[in-house]
Amino acid sequence: APADQLSDSDRSGSCSSQKMADNWILTVTARTPTNIAVIKYWGKRDEKLILPVNDSISVTLDPDHLCTTTTVAVSPSFDKDRIWLNGEEISLSSGRFQSCLREIRARAGDVEDETKGIKISKKDWEKLHVHIASYNNFPTAAGLASSAAGLACLVYSLAKLMNVNEDNSRLSSIARQGSGSACRSLYGGFVKWIMGKEEKGGDSIAVQIADEKHWDDLVIIIAVVSSRQKETSSTSGMRDTVETSLLLQHRAKEVVPRRIIKMEEAIKNRDFESFAQLTCADSNQFHAVCLDTYPPIFYMNDTSHRIISIVEKWNRSKGIPQVAYTFDAGPNAVLIARNREVAADLLQRLLFYFPPNSDTNLNSYLLGDKSILKDIG
Ligand code: ADP
Ligand code: DP6
Ligand code: CO
Repeated sequence: APADQLSDSDRSGSCSSQKMADNWILTVTARTPTNIAVIKYWGKRDEKLILPVNDSISVTLDPDHLCTTTTVAVSPSFDKDRIWLNGEEISLSSGRFQSCLREIRARAGDVEDETKGIKISKKDWEKLHVHIASYNNFPTAAGLASSAAGLACLVYSLAKLMNVNEDNSRLSSIARQGSGSACRSLYGGFVKWIMGKEEKGGDSIAVQIADEKHWDDLVIIIAVVSSRQKETSSTSGMRDTVETSLLLQHRAKEVVPRRIIKMEEAIKNRDFESFAQLTCADSNQFHAVCLDTYPPIFYMNDTSHRIISIVEKWNRSKGIPQVAYTFDAGPNAVLIARNREVAADLLQRLLFYFPPNSDTNLNSYLLGDKSILKDIG
């Protein structure tokens, strides 16, 4: 069970330990929400350090809904580092996991638990091994940014375990080396990942643009079209895009820099019209860039396209946007309603167009704010 509730104001981890004969184990559990980009990151200028070709902006979801819970443990009885994801052991050998472990270990501090008689000094961490158990409470590798929540949580919980004394912006730079989108999950609210200029990536960090209270009218509804694992991972998809898409060059250099400025303004002014226009346009351009890739990548499917049409038609009929849509590297729709009334209306419309148990029924709806369920009964 998660020992630690990571609220946005209190992201502290909790430590527990128990003495086991002449052995001991020390654990930390942390919980981290996922984030969904409204101006997308797609393409790296440095594969190893995970440095992007453009800035990106995201909204961090409510940690009660889509999140990762990770427990990290250290014990002298562990003979190697190991990781279990959703109950199954996976390989830790990838460069990304190794980068995160190495960067955190390099910053480890002294840890002392007097009541349990445990004393770990800085240099002990080089020899001690960790076991990691991580669970996502939403589909993994299905385009709902599991790598963002997963790697942010890993870095955060390891940093707590090893008493790393670094602020969230430095931790974001480490999480970035696990999965680019993960750097944005270290903060709540609206977050910008600054691409940075430095060769080593020290300035490629996430910063908070506005906190979670700033625009709390917004309600996020996720329509799970498919929870199947995608065929093309984000990592390999964007690698192909960088190698083959001319449209990406134009997007990264000409389009995104302007959108970033406008999006920051829209968020600061709570200007839903501009926010929705930018969010939808950026999602559509990201998927256009995927199509411009060779071999072409199709993340959206017919149901995704139908959802776009429904929202577009509704927005046009109202004259001003009611709902913004955005799709990550998968077919699932992230819908952002301007307020709770609109969200209730949206949910009713989705249930009308995709009735349960029909051919095109949606898997489920995941809500950014569960209180809306009460509103619509
Ligand atoms: P998504 O759209 O879900 O982010 P990606 O292709 O970007 O999909 O990344 C999926 C990969 O991220 C998984 O195959 C796994 O390697 C890693 N991942 C996801 N969740 C976790 C987690 N909780 N802990 C560690 N790694 C994770
Ligand atoms: C479409 O962060 O999953 O979700 O850095 O290779 O791990 P890696 O890729 P990842 O890519 C996310 C792409 C996206 C858009 C976004 O989150 O900005
Ligand atoms: Co991902």
